[in-house]
Amino acid sequence: MICSSLTSIAVIALAGLAQGAPTSNLRSWEEAYAKAEQVVDQMSLEQKVGLTTGIGWEKTLCVGNVHGTEDPYFPSLCLQDGPLGTRFASNNTAGVSGINAAATFDRDLMYRRAEIIGNESRGKGVHIQLGPSVDLIRAPHGGRGWEAFGEDPYLQGVGGYEFVKGVQSQNVIATAKHYILNNQEINRTTSNSVVDERTLREIYVWPYARMVEAGLGSVMCSYNLYEDIYACENDYLLNTVLKEELSFKGFVMSDWGATHSTAPSVNAGLDMTMPGDIIMGDGLSWFGPNLTKAVEDGDVSEERVTDMAMRIAAAHFKVGQDKDFPETSLVSFDRKSEPEVIVTSDEHIKFVRDIGAASVVLLANDGILPVSSDDLQKIAIVGSDAAAPSEHGGLNEVECTDMACNDGTYVMGWGSGSVDFPYIISPTEGITNRAGDSVEVVHTYDDWDTEAAAELASDADIAFVFAKTEAGEEYLMVDGNNDRKNLTLWNNGDNLIQAVADANENTVVVIHSPGPILMPWIDHENIKAVVWPGLPGQETGNSLADVLFGDVNPSGRLPYTIAKKEEDYGAHISTEYNIEYSEKLNIGYRHFDANDIEPLFAFGYGLSYSTFDYGKLKVNTKRGKRDTLATATVFVRNTGDVDGAEVAQAYISFPESAGEPPKVLRGFERVYLKAGQQRKVTFEFTETDLSIYDEESSCWVVPEGEYTVSIGASSRDIRESATFDL
Ligand code: BGC
Repeated sequence: MICSSLTSIAVIALAGLAQGAPTSNLRSWEEAYAKAEQVVDQMSLEQKVGLTTGIGWEKTLCVGNVHGTEDPYFPSLCLQDGPLGTRFASNNTAGVSGINAAATFDRDLMYRRAEIIGNESRGKGVHIQLGPSVDLIRAPHGGRGWEAFGEDPYLQGVGGYEFVKGVQSQNVIATAKHYILNNQEINRTTSNSVVDERTLREIYVWPYARMVEAGLGSVMCSYNLYEDIYACENDYLLNTVLKEELSFKGFVMSDWGATHSTAPSVNAGLDMTMPGDIIMGDGLSWFGPNLTKAVEDGDVSEERVTDMAMRIAAAHFKVGQDKDFPETSLVSFDRKSEPEVIVTSDEHIKFVRDIGAASVVLLANDGILPVSSDDLQKIAIVGSDAAAPSEHGGLNEVECTDMACNDGTYVMGWGSGSVDFPYIISPTEGITNRAGDSVEVVHTYDDWDTEAAAELASDADIAFVFAKTEAGEEYLMVDGNNDRKNLTLWNNGDNLIQAVADANENTVVVIHSPGPILMPWIDHENIKAVVWPGLPGQETGNSLADVLFGDVNPSGRLPYTIAKKEEDYGAHISTEYNIEYSEKLNIGYRHFDANDIEPLFAFGYGLSYSTFDYGKLKVNTKRGKRDTLATATVFVRNTGDVDGAEVAQAYISFPESAGEPPKVLRGFERVYLKAGQQRKVTFEFTETDLSIYDEESSCWVVPEGEYTVSIGASSRDIRESATFDL
């Protein structure tokens, strides 16, 4: 039995995944700490405290700023949301959500997306980007799952790793959030997440470990409690797990208003309070003068305050913000005075269109797609989800902040994780442009008039019917939802789909949703395809048209399970004080596997316009370079006549004695293959990949016994498997 720490083994495991970034001025932690020391050594206690204390809600240019110092010089760091781009900004790009990045199952695209987010943040003078989110989708209703990378910890780990690398390559500090066990919005500030030590680490800490390997600069602790102690004053979570076990060298900031004390928080490992206030907007702070006094009273050591300031300054120097960093040009709370600083570009926009297309998941297709323009005369488009939203969705501005109201196509969730749109190419616009002048495109956006919809659809060659659901962050409520109250479509969606399908035998359903929905119409004989574009951002219509018309062969894969019925899911939103994570390791598809429940669409599932064969799986356990314990190779061949990408997925089944779920994702590779082409795909399984957390010894161990590696096109479409012994 090998006992090793989760991070140290995997530094090597993931090193070298990111590529091609203009990474200038970046430093190692050692170099960064040496630079930080030169500055922090000259600071008074008050100056050090200033670095750790937010100036106050809506008092500064950014959603958070800490106090800077003149002598020695240290800037007032600007903290700005969020996980998909720069919030409260103009001349920006509104790209795809985290959940779409996950749906690509493509590391390069994940990295490039983050690089652009970092680039635009830097351009606006943002020092600290408040993303990525790695909150796992436990209950499919969860309001903020769309900001992150889905229901699997390995996928979250890769998503988080690439995000940190990409953003920090642009001299901007990434912030991993929300640490930890913040997986629903209801009662997020008052509930206590109850989870065992093994599940805590294998599922929820895992992505943080991967991000620490990527050089993560900051972590945001969450609102909720763990073991009846707030996450932001939880010595076990912050000091023991994050700083000691994972050797996290950066700093921990509170979520906005999540600090509840001075000495207990600071001594538990909180390094920065955000946005500074005790209660948002009150002008008071648990840090600031209260922290200075706590040092004078002996409740906090000055050494600890120095450590806090050092961690913050070191993150700043690590990502190289000390050279040529732009002035902050955001004016978050007075948008009319925002200077014009253009950070978007044609290249960024092109990328959004491409990743939007790469993240479309084709759920069903009887051959109707791709649409061939040849014998097409008339297209009907039905549903408000195909329309460009009006500016404020018809409601007043207050209710409509942060994308909380939307009367048109759904392209991102609401809350602090949203950004403003420069424009939206609606699905209707994208389809109309691509169809060309010779095709008549008619539409109706009235979701409630099913008769009119049916009539419009009845004589079209093909009918696209659009429907949506929405979700978002707790401080905004839309029709009683932040977490979704149920998984049914909004705005009469099911009836609309039924009506169109009854009227047109070439019906294609398109759903925009932050997560799974129920599909009571799925077996309707006239529904010839179901398309799932996720939350694609400003280029949504173009990305969709690229796939519908076959300019892009779809290769997106579901980053969560879509069940046949709501009760089939292993976790649900809880309204109790104690949120019991009783599914333990069986999050997402693992629960369906463990309980033999057939999903409607499995995790990792998605169709292509081509077909792919897998063959000749070989596994060898010769110790390879680095810490690889087993290597699997498999040949993937494009057996259709269309070029395209396949996402080969590798699942590991541990020896039975390990007590793991039936199988867990431990590798994926998106391979582009021309028609007829074959390629060898290699998966390396490291000690980290093959370890479990042993509660008795409190360490990560590689269980001895027989492992199975299963390679396939989804978690329920295994094509090849082989066993090996360790
Ligand atoms: C959210 C964070 C966000 C912060 C600042 C909080 O309500 O939970 O994710 O970064 O606000 O806007």
